[in-house]
Amino acid sequence: MPDVTLTTLQGMKRTGEKIAMLTCYDATFARTASEAGVEMLLIGDSLGMVLQGHDSTLPVSVADMAYHTASVKRGNRGAMIVADMPFMANATLEQTLNNSAELMRAGAHMVKLEGSAWLAEAVGQLAERGIPVCVHMGLTPQAVNLFGGYKVQGRQEAAARRMLEDARALEGAGAAMLLLECVPSELATRISKAVAIPVIGIGAGSGTDGQVLVLHDLLGLSLTGRTPRFVKNFMQGQADIPSAINAYVKAVKAVEFPAEEHGFSA
Ligand code: KIV
Ligand code: NA
Repeated sequence: MPDVTLTTLQGMKRTGEKIAMLTCYDATFARTASEAGVEMLLIGDSLGMVLQGHDSTLPVSVADMAYHTASVKRGNRGAMIVADMPFMANATLEQTLNNSAELMRAGAHMVKLEGSAWLAEAVGQLAERGIPVCVHMGLTPQAVNLFGGYKVQGRQEAAARRMLEDARALEGAGAAMLLLECVPSELATRISKAVAIPVIGIGAGSGTDGQVLVLHDLLGLSLTGRTPRFVKNFMQGQADIPSAINAYVKAVKAVEFPAEEHGFSA
């Protein structure tokens, strides 16, 4: 696969080819996923849960993120690498700039920040310094304590309207990409059509420009025994892990995953 850049992803949005993104935390899976056709590797702070065994993403540090980003970078073959800004590492603008720089130096090509329109200033400052930003909206797991649980966001009409306005504002501020987690499928489709930048979804239906899945969920592994409804075990019917990852990529491209039952209604 030739190197995936922002230009590649913008072109895919224009032509309607779905973008396949997968979380990844080490070199071997980075090699396997990039060779299986995954365009974007996300070093998600989900590593706090699936690798470290915490019950939320809050304990993850910038050093943890940089360590795994550097590992992914060594195994990657041409995919775009996105690293999560962990909890409170963007508490101030200065911290946002310094911690984003650390993730970029570790090997990220883009950083992902959880939030909404309040991130506009940080997004603009990072873009001016050459750092592309993905804004993670909807269910932002770092705010689980404020939400009172992992709940679908944007179900009420006012909240849906605000999310659409925030998406437009963030595009205007210079965001390179948006990611919508656990948002009603219809709203995610509306937002994807309203902005020119690529929109990736998880638990957001098939109308977004691409999909992301947590690697362990794709492999049918679970620490908690609870599987969210938007998850699919791609090991089923496959002989090995590379085939399962390739089946995920193919299902995303064919718009077979996510199916209706993986999404949420308003
Ligand atoms: O940390 C993560 O894995 C994520 C994805 C679920 C989008 O942010
Ligand atoms: Na994350």
